[in-house]
Amino acid sequence: MTVSEVKTVQFNKPVIKGSIKVPGDKSISHRAIMLGSIATGKTSVKGFLEGEDCLRTIDIFKQLGVSIERNGTDVLIDSPGIHNWKTPDVELYAGNSGTTARLLLGILSGSRVKSVVTGDDSLSKRPMKRVTGPLQLMGASISGAGEGDFLPLTIKGGALKGIDYEMPVASAQVKSAILFAGLNADGLTSVKESAVSRDHTERMFKLFGATIQQEGNVVSLHGGQNLKGTNVVVPGDISSAAFFMAAAAMIKGSSIEFVDVGLNPTRIGIIKVLERMGATVEILEKYGENEEPYGTIRVSNSHLRGIVIEGDIIPTLIDELPIIALLATQCEGVTVIKDAEELRVKETDRIAAVTDELTKLGAQIESTEDGMIITGPTPLKGANLKSYGDHRLGMMAAIAALITEGSVQIENPSCIAISYPNFFEQLSDLIKKDED
Ligand code: S3P
Repeated sequence: MTVSEVKTVQFNKPVIKGSIKVPGDKSISHRAIMLGSIATGKTSVKGFLEGEDCLRTIDIFKQLGVSIERNGTDVLIDSPGIHNWKTPDVELYAGNSGTTARLLLGILSGSRVKSVVTGDDSLSKRPMKRVTGPLQLMGASISGAGEGDFLPLTIKGGALKGIDYEMPVASAQVKSAILFAGLNADGLTSVKESAVSRDHTERMFKLFGATIQQEGNVVSLHGGQNLKGTNVVVPGDISSAAFFMAAAAMIKGSSIEFVDVGLNPTRIGIIKVLERMGATVEILEKYGENEEPYGTIRVSNSHLRGIVIEGDIIPTLIDELPIIALLATQCEGVTVIKDAEELRVKETDRIAAVTDELTKLGAQIESTEDGMIITGPTPLKGANLKSYGDHRLGMMAAIAALITEGSVQIENPSCIAISYPNFFEQLSDLIKKDED
């Protein structure tokens, strides 16, 4: 039996101010390890996210015979290349990480090793057929209980053929798994999405020397390309910054500067939402490095109003919807979130979980099949909140405590380390700055 810990978070309605550099982007950190392991030779990664999900990815590629040395956020990879990996002696455990598991299934399908991929309880309930279905169409040998719907799955790498695939859901994980398999498949692989999801895989393929075509929402590449090790600099994770962006936007007198945060156009839905709600957002600098744009931005409080969030913007802010729902409780009028049914198959059912937890705080929120409807502004009160072992629910609860009358107790807050190990330190730095 696991003993659940509880953290009491109480603030006296602080103003938050200052400048922070949030930890490295989770999606880009995973891909840097994966591509550095597929490629032949040395890869250096700077700004790697030391979160639990990304550490799982490192452990897995070590099991495949890749040399990976990590010193904090600096990682050095030296790989014999995907065709010289060794068959692992143990099962490959992806923990809580959907990105690790799904991308790995695509990578292993085109390798020469046989292995078993497993995950924790939450991951073992998340749908895998969306990945194993197209991979099997490419000729991948994947077996497990059911029809490849759930982990654990056994993958026997082998010959693959390219496919022309139209994805039923806009998912970067599915797109990436197919592209990884396509890299070692015979002929052309093409993936079409209904709306453009994050394109970090495509950008990083180019950085490692691959040729890949992107035209609108179709991505294609020819198989048989060999990647060469390179240098990757990981920008700050905008999905982590989003928690403090929301806090700065909704707390009177607050303003926070985010240094070197990723500004990839497929990830900046949160910035567009903040602007449409009426927050002040200034982009202070913008650079491009490693194919990934990043810069410094400042978000400040202003009067906020409710908006409708739907359609093509959803994949660009999918992970931000829990914190956007909290933000919406402080907006004047109604905020409608729709076309977000994917939230039901994240680390937990985020539509049900967000609705239940914000209701406990006194929010006016109702769930719909594909989203939530929130009416504000509502003063919130303290309560006992569950994290559901979901890092983004845990952080939503902590940010809520900044505006509640009374304390918030967070059950199992340690899951926050999945994507944001120093979250509470950065939070208290932003509060202290005002008291200094
Ligand atoms: C991710 C893609 C998204 C996102 C996840 C990370 C990625 O998932 O929610 O946190 O790194 O590719 P989906 O592809 O399932 O939408």
